[in-house]
Amino acid sequence: MSKNPRVLSVANSKGGVGKSVVTILLAVALAKEKNKRVLIIDCDNQGSIMDLYETEKDRWQEEPAIEVEELTPRRVQSFLKRFGEDYDYIFIDVPRMTDAKKDNATVMLLYNCDAILVPIVGNQVDVLSSYDFLEILKEAKTDKSEMDLSLDYYGFINRRNQRKSNEEAEQSMKAKGMKMFKHSLPDLKIFTNPSLYASILESAEGKRRFEDFYKEFKRKFKLK
Ligand SMILES: Nc1ncnc2c1ncn2[C@@H]1O[C@H](COP(=O)(O)OP(=O)(O)O)[C@@H](O)[C@H]1O
Ligand SMILES: [Mg+2]
Repeated sequence: MSKNPRVLSVANSKGGVGKSVVTILLAVALAKEKNKRVLIIDCDNQGSIMDLYETEKDRWQEEPAIEVEELTPRRVQSFLKRFGEDYDYIFIDVPRMTDAKKDNATVMLLYNCDAILVPIVGNQVDVLSSYDFLEILKEAKTDKSEMDLSLDYYGFINRRNQRKSNEEAEQSMKAKGMKMFKHSLPDLKIFTNPSLYASILESAEGKRRFEDFYKEFKRKFKLK
């Protein structure tokens, strides 16, 4: 049993950038490929991952690869203290933040994480809000390091397509001090409706389109 779960999050302050979808893709891939105990804590008040869990249950005979728990942000820390060590990896699906100063409970969720992956979609509005989110991460990292705790974070381009805005987003995030993944995720139908039962790596196209990104994720965040 793992005494020290890694707490991870795919997070950004904006909605609609792929936080929930990429959380599921990575969580299920880790659970299946590494045979690890993985939990997703769904803190999004729209409960999209919990909804998927409920919907899929009726369709599948077998157990899902991972567990899903729905919690309000305020309850996460005590949940992690009590049950965290039952898992190897815990992903927190954070709600979008309308105003970081007001959404204190959401910002505090980030402090519970060891590693955060930030999806960035290359349009102007999303990039601007990612700047603000990066500032929150920098502050969290500084606060945590004063307590001898670490916080790693990286950005990656989600929904990469042919447009120039992807390159621009990447360059401007780097210029602000965001470390960026070398691999991105393309804008593809296979990523739109991931399952909590089957790993994307089980299909040939999924493997081809996702594996390099997944490997970089494991390497950068030192996941054993
Ligand atoms: N790489 C991708 N390719 C295609 N569709 C994507 C990709 N990433 C996200 N989407 C789609 O974008 C929408 C928003 O994704 P979602 O994960 O719900 O965002 P968030 O959790 O950040 O609000 C969903 O319809 C999802 O299927
Ligand atoms: Mg979501």
